[in-house]
Amino acid sequence: MSELVFVGTTGPGLQALEYAREAGHRTVLIHSPRHDFFLPDAQRARARELVDRVVEVDDVADTAGVLDALRAAGTDPAGIDAVLTTLHFSIVPTAHLAKALGLPGCDPDAILAAKDKARCRRVLDAEGIPNLGHAVGRDLPGVLAAADRLGYPVIVKPATGVGKVSTALARSAPDIEALFAAAGDAARTVDPGVAAELDGRFIVEEVAVGPLYSVEVACDGRTFTPLVVVRRKTGRDNPVLELGSTVPCGLPAEREREVGEYAVRVCRALGLGVGLFHVEVIGTAHGPRLIEVNPRVSGGAIPDLVTAATGRNLFAVLVDLFTGRPAPAAPFPPIAGASHSFITAARDCTVRDDLPDDWFDALRPRIHSGWTTVRPGDRLRRMDGNFDTYGVVRVVAEDAGTAERTCAGLMAEVEKTLGIPLTPVAAPSERTAR
Ligand SMILES: Nc1ncnc2c1ncn2[C@@H]1O[C@H](COP(=O)(O)OP(=O)(O)OP(=O)(O)O)[C@@H](O)[C@H]1O
Ligand SMILES: [Mg+2]
Repeated sequence: MSELVFVGTTGPGLQALEYAREAGHRTVLIHSPRHDFFLPDAQRARARELVDRVVEVDDVADTAGVLDALRAAGTDPAGIDAVLTTLHFSIVPTAHLAKALGLPGCDPDAILAAKDKARCRRVLDAEGIPNLGHAVGRDLPGVLAAADRLGYPVIVKPATGVGKVSTALARSAPDIEALFAAAGDAARTVDPGVAAELDGRFIVEEVAVGPLYSVEVACDGRTFTPLVVVRRKTGRDNPVLELGSTVPCGLPAEREREVGEYAVRVCRALGLGVGLFHVEVIGTAHGPRLIEVNPRVSGGAIPDLVTAATGRNLFAVLVDLFTGRPAPAAPFPPIAGASHSFITAARDCTVRDDLPDDWFDALRPRIHSGWTTVRPGDRLRRMDGNFDTYGVVRVVAEDAGTAERTCAGLMAEVEKTLGIPLTPVAAPSERTAR
């Protein structure tokens, strides 16, 4: 039995709390309203049910304040075995807290190096790891100058961005001017917690051409194992948009191994320690190239997809790593093919008024799992980033190709049923940034 302190949780991360309870660990949840702005009330309530103790703090970044709050609630910091999180907005405070207590985790500086896309690319260059051309701009003239130096097309994104906020492919200077014109609106409309992540710097990058993958890398402090390579579905018209994923990734075994080993090299170079890391990579004609590292377990729909395709639960591995278990020795072998797509709108639109309330139930017998928030007469926003997602349709089949095709067929049906245009997905052969 270990005493585990979770710093906030995501919705999918409730599975880590469930597993910790089943495994007989004592659990404390540190809750700060500043950090859990995405969590629906029902999931927040469920998190409270699953843990042995909830400790309320105003700011999880105030390490001394968190330690005081733990003591006041009756948790002796000396008895804590691990501090961990599944929530992106808590990873830096979690690393500081673990360091203050001398517990396993990642050095805060390694976390900061991973989260800062510009610093991360400098680490790759210093270590001689194949990398994309990059430069930083702090304002519109700086970004335009950086793009001129690199040569168009380029990707422009906040150096510490998440969820595709203010991220775009720019084919020429006017595209960058348009991004900056919209960035002010984006900064005003995104949640303050997301806005707080941004520091005004933009990274300008060479465009990697090829399919997008993500790798879940596990580390027990010594061994790094690429647990699973996931193929991501991207937008046909806007390659920055992610529209779903498939496992297994469809690469020949040797190429899949190459992607996994590249992700491990990146994690090692950053000096990441105990934990699970979500590494995004594009498979170019010259080999894998890093898109970004999220120094935390994957969020969103990917963990459930991995469970459907491999029978393994990433959150269980996460808890095991933090309670001193070794990292799995090898990638998870697939037991099925699994694919999901997000319900997102190609443009601002309104769902038909005569849509039956239970429209999604008609799909249920033919899907593995899924959800939707779409109701008759809803106004949907054009998908600009991860926060404009109105549901998931997930299919499991004997192989990934069948799962992906079946999922695409069901999405065509969803499009017809709702009477709105869904965001078009690039065909596998077209999954390149153009
Ligand atoms: N240099 C690049 N070349 C090609 N495509 C890129 C590049 N950088 C980003 N992209 C595309 O844009 C997407 C968003 O970029 P990135 O992952 O860095 O942003 P993000 O906002 O942190 O995303 P999220 O938080 O949703 O994972 C990537 O998934 C990829 O599809
Ligand atoms: Mg990303």
